[in-house]
Amino acid sequence: MDARKFVEEQVRDISARVGGRAIVALSGGVDSTVAAAIVNRAIGDRLLAVYVDTGFMRKGETERLESMFGRLGLNYRIVHASDLFFDSLEGVADAEKKRVAIGRKFIEIFEEEAGAFQAEYLVQGTIAPDWIESGGTLRDRIKSHHNVAGLPENMKLKLIEPLRDLYKDEVRTVARHLAIEVSERQPFPGPGLAVRVLGGLTREDVEIEREACAIVEEEIEKAYAERRMDALPWQYFSVLIPVRSVGVQGDVRAFGRTIVVRAVLSKDAMTARFADLPHDVLENIATRITNKLGSSITRVVYDITNKPPATIEWE
Ligand code: XMP
Repeated sequence: MDARKFVEEQVRDISARVGGRAIVALSGGVDSTVAAAIVNRAIGDRLLAVYVDTGFMRKGETERLESMFGRLGLNYRIVHASDLFFDSLEGVADAEKKRVAIGRKFIEIFEEEAGAFQAEYLVQGTIAPDWIESGGTLRDRIKSHHNVAGLPENMKLKLIEPLRDLYKDEVRTVARHLAIEVSERQPFPGPGLAVRVLGGLTREDVEIEREACAIVEEEIEKAYAERRMDALPWQYFSVLIPVRSVGVQGDVRAFGRTIVVRAVLSKDAMTARFADLPHDVLENIATRITNKLGSSITRVVYDITNKPPATIEWE
């Protein structure tokens, strides 16, 4: 694809179409960051970038992103909303209901922010697989990606989705063209760690998942930096599942839960193959996770399922 032409066309189209103010749902991932950068070029300060800290972000993420937003020259605001998100998920264990509840909360917050900013438009980093997999007339609903499923029918904001027809590799091409520093980052789902803690959520479980996920990322990135791996997988993370098994801690019986390590290779997330991680990397991950989280986690397993038949995330 011709990234320069794509950006020019989008900027031209958006500046012609959008007369008023807009807010962008900025997650700090490649998609929303590219969408924000394009709309920023088109309408400048009439765009407000809103980053919502849901409480389901990765370790250190909010602090890292805050400094990036400053460097991007965006007009941005950070909303700390973890209490609101936890409250809205109380007693919700079903995967689809969790996604829909999180999506709704997102939209509610954006509508509030948009009202305060007097925005008429909502910019989203939706890409082609997001809406294809959320089910159209021709396709079965596989899972509701939060940026599609949560939209209320009577939403007052008009949508701007500049990346709607692009696949991930094309978004990265555009990101490189715009010199956006997160261009090579692995995708992170909108509902964040909430869909990586299976079933009902507690703050403590999200904390366990956050620690485990950080260990998976650190060990894989370290192996890649030390050239023990040729390339980084497309995505690599952990999932906390409510399966208990017997372990030993010191010489005492333990009965903890399970962390699944997931690492996949893909081109566009529509299909994926499990990554053949070196065994020493897997072993380091398991050792660090059980050392750090031993009172809660007694077992670490590796997911060797491709997509299809599985999906990349577990919920
Ligand atoms: P699945 O699990 O459906 O995921 O194979 C495909 C890709 O999409 C990411 N993903 C999401 N991205 N909002 C997003 O923006 C979401 O709700 C969402 N759910 C999954 C997933 O991490 C993978 O890269």
